[in-house]
Amino acid sequence: MSAERYRVGISSSDGDGVIDCDATDTLLRGALRNGVALSYECNSGGCGSCKFDLLEGEVENLWPEAPGLSPRDRRKGRLLACQCRPISDCRIKARVEASAPPIRPSRREVAFVGRKALTPGMAEFRFVSEGAADFLPGQFAMLSLPGIDGERAYSMSNTANEDGHWRFIIKRMPGGKGTGFLFDRLGTGDRIGLDGPYGNAWLREDNERDIVLIAGGSGLSPVVSIVRAITSSERFSGRKVYFFYGGRGPQDICTERILKTLEPSGVELICHTAVSDAALAREAGWEGPRCFVHELVEQTLGDRMPEFEFYFCGPPPMTEAVQRMAMIDYRVPFDQLHFDRFF
Ligand SMILES: Cc1cc2nc3c(=O)[nH]c(=O)nc-3n(C[C@H](O)[C@H](O)[C@H](O)COP(=O)(O)OP(=O)(O)OC[C@H]3O[C@@H](n4cnc5c(N)ncnc54)[C@H](O)[C@@H]3O)c2cc1C
Ligand code: FES
Repeated sequence: MSAERYRVGISSSDGDGVIDCDATDTLLRGALRNGVALSYECNSGGCGSCKFDLLEGEVENLWPEAPGLSPRDRRKGRLLACQCRPISDCRIKARVEASAPPIRPSRREVAFVGRKALTPGMAEFRFVSEGAADFLPGQFAMLSLPGIDGERAYSMSNTANEDGHWRFIIKRMPGGKGTGFLFDRLGTGDRIGLDGPYGNAWLREDNERDIVLIAGGSGLSPVVSIVRAITSSERFSGRKVYFFYGGRGPQDICTERILKTLEPSGVELICHTAVSDAALAREAGWEGPRCFVHELVEQTLGDRMPEFEFYFCGPPPMTEAVQRMAMIDYRVPFDQLHFDRFF
């Protein structure tokens, strides 16, 4: 039985459009499935970039307390397109980008195949779907986990393939409901929902610049996907690729283990790691750099920063520090920066 669909009119500074939105979809997902690039980042209620004004009609708000809205937004009646489903035909005013990523998101089921521990709190999870796993390196998917409210965003760590293989590097969050389920209750063969791909921090092929990849903590997954794509494609032959990874303590650093499985064909891959917690570093006898990962990038690249294309992912304080340093201190043009903040 097909679900009910509603017509949603979207007014933006570039003009008006209409989409057909499935009643089970949020307005954001409905728009993206129609190829309309409503502005967004996290698809998880955290960043606020999908804010809209409801001009006509009714919506159901799936997570009224979502942190992406400020008290001022709430006073003005603003809503989040990633958290609202249409319950009638409606009309909204929202920001729309010039173009949507090339692959439209779709839903499927995946079966859990297994996981490999990378650190005491982080593992690479493997799933398989029927049909191809189609996404760009650096993108993410929304996973629906049984009994958990809201879906969780996880970035793929592998590359697109015809065999339906999906991999995700996931960090356990103390007390987290989603990661608690994934690490403690998910069993081999269990099926979960996967909707994707989403995200704007995908690997660009339209320039010849050398590449800087930066990850902090759980931000490793999408940059591993990008490095796997770069090292297996002749398209990037001759490029230098700097890979920076920062963790709290030495036991968080697992990049060597991941990178040694790669065979860089024609690219020069240079890896730098740092830990930020001085006490953990001392305890473990860490002799490498002790600083935040953006400081490591600055010490290594300094004034050369504007020469590179940047991809970075991780917790908001880390991505904001990198963005500030690159744009304000070193004048890297904004269109050379591609990032996901993991709310
Ligand atoms: C774009 C993006 C990509 C990400 N990629 C990765 C990755 O590759 N690896 C990784 O380890 N982490 C990643 N994360 C973080 C991940 O999505 C989770 O936030 C994290 O794993 C903690 O989840 P939890 O359920 O354990 O914690 P919890 O504290 O239980 O939940 C945290 C998150 O779940 C969502 N949430 C909570 N309650 C609700 C609700 N009622 N309705 C809707 N949503 C709700 C919110 O987004 C919240 O921030 C990514 C986040 C984003 C935004
Ligand atoms: S995309 Fe909706 S709050 Fe981030």
